[in-house]
Amino acid sequence: MAQLWGGRFTKETDQLVYNFNASISFDRRFYEQDIRGSIAHVTMLAKQGILTGEEKEKIIGGLKGILSDVENGSLQITSEYEDIHSFVEANLIERIGDTGKKLHTGRSRNDQVALDMKLYIRDEILALDKLLKDMLEILIKLMEEHTETYMPGFTHLQKAQPITLAHHLGAYFEMFKRDRQRMKDIYGRMNYCPLGAGALAGTTYPLDREYTAELLGFAGPTLNSIDSVSDRDYLIELLSAMSTVMMHLSRFSEEVIIWNSNEYQFVEVDDAYSTGSSIMPQKKNPDIAELVRGKTGRVYGALMSLLTTMKGIPLAYNKDMQEDKELVFDAIDTTKGCLALFTGMLASMKFNKKQMENSAKNGFTNATDAADYLVNHGVPFRDAHGIVGQLVLYCIEKNIALDDMTLEEYKAISPVFEEDIYQAISMKTCVEMRNTIGAPGKAAMEQVIAWEKDYLAEDK
Ligand code: ARG
Repeated sequence: MAQLWGGRFTKETDQLVYNFNASISFDRRFYEQDIRGSIAHVTMLAKQGILTGEEKEKIIGGLKGILSDVENGSLQITSEYEDIHSFVEANLIERIGDTGKKLHTGRSRNDQVALDMKLYIRDEILALDKLLKDMLEILIKLMEEHTETYMPGFTHLQKAQPITLAHHLGAYFEMFKRDRQRMKDIYGRMNYCPLGAGALAGTTYPLDREYTAELLGFAGPTLNSIDSVSDRDYLIELLSAMSTVMMHLSRFSEEVIIWNSNEYQFVEVDDAYSTGSSIMPQKKNPDIAELVRGKTGRVYGALMSLLTTMKGIPLAYNKDMQEDKELVFDAIDTTKGCLALFTGMLASMKFNKKQMENSAKNGFTNATDAADYLVNHGVPFRDAHGIVGQLVLYCIEKNIALDDMTLEEYKAISPVFEEDIYQAISMKTCVEMRNTIGAPGKAAMEQVIAWEKDYLAEDK
C-alpha cells in the first residue's frame, strides 16, 4: 500500500478498505494526461517563482522519464499504488529525491483528477468525432452510388411510398452529422482548465491559472474553484451524446437485421461481419448488428448511473465522483468500438437492388401517386383516396400490382383514368417527381449530396 496521506493516521488501512478505495486499476488509463498536467503545473510554478528553474528542470526530467518508461514497458503501473496520481508522485520522488516532493505544491488531487479527466475526455471526443466522420464518408459514397436504387419507404414498418437507398441512407447521414455537432458543442463547453482550484478553495500561492490553462490548450481557467472540482456535467453530456449515437446505431442495426433476413433480402452482410450457427449449417447471422443494438443498453445504463450518482452529492468533491471513470471509460470504448465495426460492416455490405425495387413495386407504394393523378384530373382528394382504396382492394383480391391492371379495369372503377396512368404511377415517376429539398427525387438528392460534400470538405 503506497499512500500520499499517511501522516495523521496511526493505523494501517484495512486491506479490504484499501482495495475498495483504490482507483489505480482504472485511472491508470490517464497516466499520460496526469504527467502532461504535472509538467504544465511545474512550468507555471517556476514562472511564478514558486519553484526555481533548476527544480522545474529536474521535476520535468523525472516526469518525462516516467512517461517513457511506462510507454516502453520497463515501468509497470501496479496496484501497489492507490491511484495514478500517487503512482506518478511516488515514482518521481524515487527517481529525483526530495525535489520530487515539491511537485504537489499548490495542488490537490481534486483539481488534479478533474484536469486529468478533462484532458483525457478532450482526446476521446476528437476520436469519437473522427469515427463519426468516417461513417459519414462511407454514407456519402453509398448515397452517390444509389440515387436510382428504388426501395420502399416505410411507416409502421408497412410499405408507404417509394424512395431511393440514397434517400434512406441520407437520413442516417443527418443523424450522425448532428452527433458530430453535439461532440463539438460539448468540447467547447468543457474546455476550461480546473487546475489551481486546489481542494475546493483555490490556494494561497500566486498561481497563474491563465498561463496553465494556455499551456494545456484550454480556452481559459474555470471561474469557480468549488465548481471546478465538483463539475461532472460534461461527462453526463458526453454520455448523453454517446447514448444518442448508440440509439442511431441501434436503429440502423435493426434495419440491417431486417433487411438481411430471408424474407427481405435487401442486403447481404459480408461474411467477414457475420457468424454461423453451431447446429444449423445454413445460418449466417448478423451478430455484429445485434451486438451493437444490444450494447446500446450499456451506454444508456452509464448515463443513468452517473446522473443518479451525482444527484445527491453536496459541494464540493466527494469520493462518489470516482465512480464516473469506469462508467465513462466503458461507454467510450463501447461507442467507439460499435462505430468502427458498423462502418466496416456498412462499407462491405452488398445491396440487392433488384429485390429492393421489386419490394417497392409490390406494396402499393404508388397508391398516393394514383390518387394524385385523379386530383390532377379534377377529382377532389378525398374522393380520389376512396377510388384508389377500391383499386387496392381489387388488386389484393387478384394478387396483382396497380401497374398490372388493364385500362378497362381502371375505367370500371373510375372513368377518369387514361393510358397515361401507367406513366404516372411508374416507380421512376413516383420518385423523380418528388424534388422538393430533402425529397428522394434524383435532382433534389444530388443537390443535398453536393451540400453534404461541402460540409465534409470544410470539416465543419
Ligand atoms: N481517485 C480519485 C477520483 O477518481 C481522485 C481524487 C481523490 N481525491 C480525494 N480527495 N480523495 O476521484
